Amino acid sequence: MKYLAVLLAAAALVTGGAYAQDGASVRAGTTAARLEPGRDVYARWCAPCHAAYPRLAGTMSLQAKYSGSLPAALEDRTDLNAALIAYFVRNGVAWMPPFRPTEISDAELAQLTEYLTAPLAERGAHAPLMAQELVGQHGETQ
Ligand code: HEC
Repeated sequence: MKYLAVLLAAAALVTGGAYAQDGASVRAGTTAARLEPGRDVYARWCAPCHAAYPRLAGTMSLQAKYSGSLPAALEDRTDLNAALIAYFVRNGVAWMPPFRPTEISDAELAQLTEYLTAPLAERGAHAPLMAQELVGQHGETQ
């Protein structure tokens, strides 16, 4: 029930237009070579829920949780650390599943962590969203 309430609150925010669309101007350019493997892990496993589109499950939940005081898109956050990322990836939360080492290996988790904790300027443009069918061209569903 708690999460349903969060979801409804998030939906109200989104339909009210209060969500600030992704910081595209901040996230442009190329990704530092050392961050590319982690960005690929993020694109494959995290972006479907956490990309910078307001109606994705993770982005919507974090928008509701922080009311915009932190970026809703996980890859725009600069406050995450290795222990926190590992905790959520291995345990999950709400409808975020836990990821097994056979899905995301410890080496890939380390790469993912490097990407999510790097200075924003080095991260380059947002990771590609591989679930484009979920959102329209402008981040809107039908
Ligand atoms: C099926 C959708 C889904 C996927 C896939 C997913 N997440 Fe999540 N994630 C969520 C939701 C929903 C929440 C917020 C739950 C809540 O309301 O607290 C969340 C929360 C988090 C949080 C906590 C952030 C905070 O400040 O509370 C972290 C960290 C996180 N996810 C990391 C990841 C990473 C890294 C990946 C990829 C390996 C990933 N998630 C994949 C749905 C997902």
